[in-house]
Amino acid sequence: MNSQNPVAPAKTGDLVLERIESNPKVQAQAPRLMFRKSNRTNTLTGVAVTSIGAYVPDRIVTNAELENRYGFEPGWVEKRTGIKERRYAADDEGTSDLAVKAARRAIAAAGVDPAEIDLVLVGTFTPDYTCPSTACLVQNKLGLDAAAVDLQAACSGFMYALATGAQFIATGNSKRALVIGADINSRIVEPSDQGTAPLFGDAAGAVLLEAGSSNQGLLCYQLGADGAGGSMLDRPVGGTARPLTADLITSGQHYLKMDGRNVFKWAIQVVTETIQLILDRAGVGVDDVKLFVLHQANIRIIDHAMSVLGIPAHKVFNNLERVGNTSAASIPVALEEANRQGKLESGDLVLMCGFGAGLTWGTGLFRW
Ligand SMILES: CC(C)(COP(=O)(O)OP(=O)(O)OC[C@H]1O[C@@H](n2cnc3c(N)ncnc32)[C@H](O)[C@@H]1OP(=O)(O)O)[C@@H](O)C(=O)NCCC(=O)NCCS
Repeated sequence: MNSQNPVAPAKTGDLVLERIESNPKVQAQAPRLMFRKSNRTNTLTGVAVTSIGAYVPDRIVTNAELENRYGFEPGWVEKRTGIKERRYAADDEGTSDLAVKAARRAIAAAGVDPAEIDLVLVGTFTPDYTCPSTACLVQNKLGLDAAAVDLQAACSGFMYALATGAQFIATGNSKRALVIGADINSRIVEPSDQGTAPLFGDAAGAVLLEAGSSNQGLLCYQLGADGAGGSMLDRPVGGTARPLTADLITSGQHYLKMDGRNVFKWAIQVVTETIQLILDRAGVGVDDVKLFVLHQANIRIIDHAMSVLGIPAHKVFNNLERVGNTSAASIPVALEEANRQGKLESGDLVLMCGFGAGLTWGTGLFRW
């Protein structure tokens, strides 16, 4: 399989992470919040990812730049998240522009005629406009004869879009589906908020789905939602419930709001539970999985899952130190980079897990 992309090579650094397993205060605590769980899983095979493309904007924004500009505590972001830098879109780029660049790379890597693409799904929670959809903008910019729709599941958006696209492919109702995750988070975070802004970056990733062999595709997947936790990570104004007013904008209510500590507690719980469930239902062990690609939100969340599930480091692909949390783009951008490094081959088992606002999560064990 082919791929193209441009994430800069990793820089080495002396990252000292406070591993939660070694924190006695944390070890003594059981998770104190009760969250909705789900035991629903499904299978959807006969689907193949035939190419991947990704696009990260040129502009690198380092922790030092944000620390200097906003007075953030030096070293806080890296120590608490593992993130060293992220990319910000140019002022004249919208989410659809990033999505189109990633999609063009996926199409070029597959060598397919764009006329054969009949479905465009875009996972995003930072659309160019409230209306029309970003997917329609992508469809138009690529000149496709294709159905086009957005899926809004925040950082789980790519997994929701992947599972949705796979349904169309598996039924034969789509021959070639373009599944994209794209977000420009830098436009929705409150720039001076240390607890949110430095965690997020901008990017897009795209995969082409086509019919595959009967043993390819989602051997087991779960899409979950817990709307009761919606206010833990939200943009409380700007929709129909609370339309924008000048006063709300002045008081910064239009920015993304996050209860980071409780999102963290939820994430470490849901990620470990959903991955374990998928592995159990598929009847495979950690050893059978070639690569784990988790949403790149916080290295401590990923490390926690690895520790609880017994996943060795060489089976986990991370790039968050260079791109931060790119929401719906997170998993496809990481997949693209892993593929470019030769880590994905036909027949491999890949475990992907996205989680985020909604609350939502999406986990899939994919036979490549
Ligand atoms: C924003 C953030 C960096 C702030 O970090 P912080 O203030 O240092 O807080 P921590 O991450 O250390 O801890 C958060 C809570 O989880 C707890 N915690 C950490 N590891 C834990 C574990 N293994 N089991 C149970 N609780 C744990 C901490 O004790 C803390 O709870 P407390 O406030 O009751 O003491 C961090 O909370 C975070 O990354 N949150 C998730 C953000 C995110 O990923 N958002 C996007 C999701 S798509």
